[in-house]
Amino acid sequence: MKKAEINLIQSTYRGKKVFLTGHTGFKGSWLSIWLEKLGAEVFGYSLAPENDYDLYNQLNFSDRHTSLFADIRDKKKFEKSILNFNPDFIFHLAAQPLVRYSYQHPVETYETNVIGTANLLNSMRKLTKKCAAIFITTDKVYHNNEWEYPYRENDRLGGYDPYSSSKACCELLIDSFSNSYFNNANFKEHNISISSARAGNVIGGGDWAADRIVPDIVRALKEGQTIEVRNPHSVRPWQHVIEPLGAYLLLGARSYNDHVGGAWNFGPNANDILTVGELVDHAISIWGEGDYTTPQKNDDPHEAGLLMLDISKSQRKLNWNPRYSSKQAIEMTINWYKNFKEGASANELIKNDIDNYLNIK
Ligand SMILES: NC(=O)c1ccc[n+]([C@@H]2O[C@H](COP(=O)([O-])OP(=O)(O)OC[C@H]3O[C@@H](n4cnc5c(N)ncnc54)[C@H](O)[C@@H]3O)[C@@H](O)[C@H]2O)c1
Repeated sequence: MKKAEINLIQSTYRGKKVFLTGHTGFKGSWLSIWLEKLGAEVFGYSLAPENDYDLYNQLNFSDRHTSLFADIRDKKKFEKSILNFNPDFIFHLAAQPLVRYSYQHPVETYETNVIGTANLLNSMRKLTKKCAAIFITTDKVYHNNEWEYPYRENDRLGGYDPYSSSKACCELLIDSFSNSYFNNANFKEHNISISSARAGNVIGGGDWAADRIVPDIVRALKEGQTIEVRNPHSVRPWQHVIEPLGAYLLLGARSYNDHVGGAWNFGPNANDILTVGELVDHAISIWGEGDYTTPQKNDDPHEAGLLMLDISKSQRKLNWNPRYSSKQAIEMTINWYKNFKEGASANELIKNDIDNYLNIK
């Protein structure tokens, strides 16, 4: 992203009403702070945070903006909240986002991810003023051939595990509503622009989710334990959380101003590839000590081994580019946790990371 795109973001959201689902989660908490900095009025709709140490509680969000702890599967409550707030923007992040959990709870995963998205899309049909909505899916929506080519937005959708498959279903839903109700050809009749954002594995300070690589690394390093790494040879598009969030804000601004729609990939540059093992090695070197092992026998359910995104459409049409390499993202992330451990506040650390991102020349 260059200065012009940063300026577009800065000028678009001031005083605007933003309905944010998933605001009690990792990405939602970072996005809330950014929207607050931009001068937007945020209404958050999510399940309540589960732990005292969750970012939402660390950041005292209950005192900072209006929120409702409720379920996106509750069609009536969800619709009422959206219509009462009457937003200019919607960012839909609420989801069951974990692959391994989805193997244990497939129906819940489909209900939350697919029905929750359908409830939102259907409610939007009743909105009466201009609104841009960005639906956050994932890089895992592609039918994964485990090949060395990065996936483009027009590649076949799929999903081996229930989580990936549920997010691919969301893409089909969004496409159908985009054609049937929010077609750009008659934008003036509905005033709604919807897009989906497919980003890769994000890392950043304050994520404490179970079964995610960086929180697992930090928990082990803090306790002086050996890190257990299940799939050290897997390749993922690692990014600092700021990168996709900047992309969502840019896509929101472009959707609102120019009604760009459709699906968009956001990931690292094609030559910026790291395996899980390389990520762990780099994290250990930044932390200063630690080591990792790989379990002899891996009984875990299937997870994709190789996954890369082609970001040329976003680069060309949105002028969006990643600002950090994967290694820089790891450094920022591990330093966040180190500083937090030494007493810095989550609020201050996130604000610093956002300011640094905005000030890159
Ligand atoms: N973290 C990643 O690496 C990553 C990568 C690609 C895509 N994503 C997507 O980004 C989004 C945010 O992910 P995250 O990492 O912040 O996840 P998270 O688990 O930290 O947060 C999930 C949020 O969704 C809310 N939620 C879950 N079920 C709900 C329900 N039934 N009703 C209302 N709210 C509900 C939770 O309360 C929470 O606010 C998700 O859609 C996820 O699939 C995440």
